[in-house]
Amino acid sequence: MSALPRLVVLISGRGRNLQAIVDATRSGRLRAEVALVLSNRSDAAGLDYARAAGIPTQVIRHQDHADRASFDAQMLAVIEPLQPALVVLAGFMRILTPRFIRAFQGRLVNIHPSLLPLYPGLNTHARALQAGDAEHGASVHWVTEELDGGPVIAQGRVRIEAGDTPETLGQRVLEQVEVRLYPEVLQQLLTEPAAR
Ligand code: GRF
Repeated sequence: MSALPRLVVLISGRGRNLQAIVDATRSGRLRAEVALVLSNRSDAAGLDYARAAGIPTQVIRHQDHADRASFDAQMLAVIEPLQPALVVLAGFMRILTPRFIRAFQGRLVNIHPSLLPLYPGLNTHARALQAGDAEHGASVHWVTEELDGGPVIAQGRVRIEAGDTPETLGQRVLEQVEVRLYPEVLQQLLTEPAAR
């Protein structure tokens, strides 16, 4: 039996998407192994989850680096030897340098909580409500040098309900779209690498 393709997952926070990805690897819906969870914050709750799940973790604090180039160089040095099939951004809140992005071109994906190209950047749920949109959702996309601007791979939608707040809407997007969509898309990318 051949070894499973390796994923490296980058997080900065609670890691709900990370959990969904790990669950999917363990139930067999996602035929891959999470080889490493890397965080730029030592207090990311997702690290506790990963440790409890027996997944290797590493913290590379961006504050310990003089600039983005040096931070990204250390991440590269940690990730490259693992030869990941995909590098998966899951609530990773740092802008990556062109050097890092090019090193993993065609293997670097992100999930963004909006129907891109609508609302790149932050506060997406509030912006969708403010605009009076009828629907909202999340997008999995390739990472390019343009922030939240790489080609969209797949999207999922929810209806915006009367009385939604950024919190209720964000929670619905996360639980009804993101945690389902991300593992499915990762499996699809691993199955059909020619689609890249
Ligand atoms: C998710 O909404 C994700 O789309 C966005 O940040 C949030 C991260 O949540 N990029 P979590 O850390 O996966 O719980």
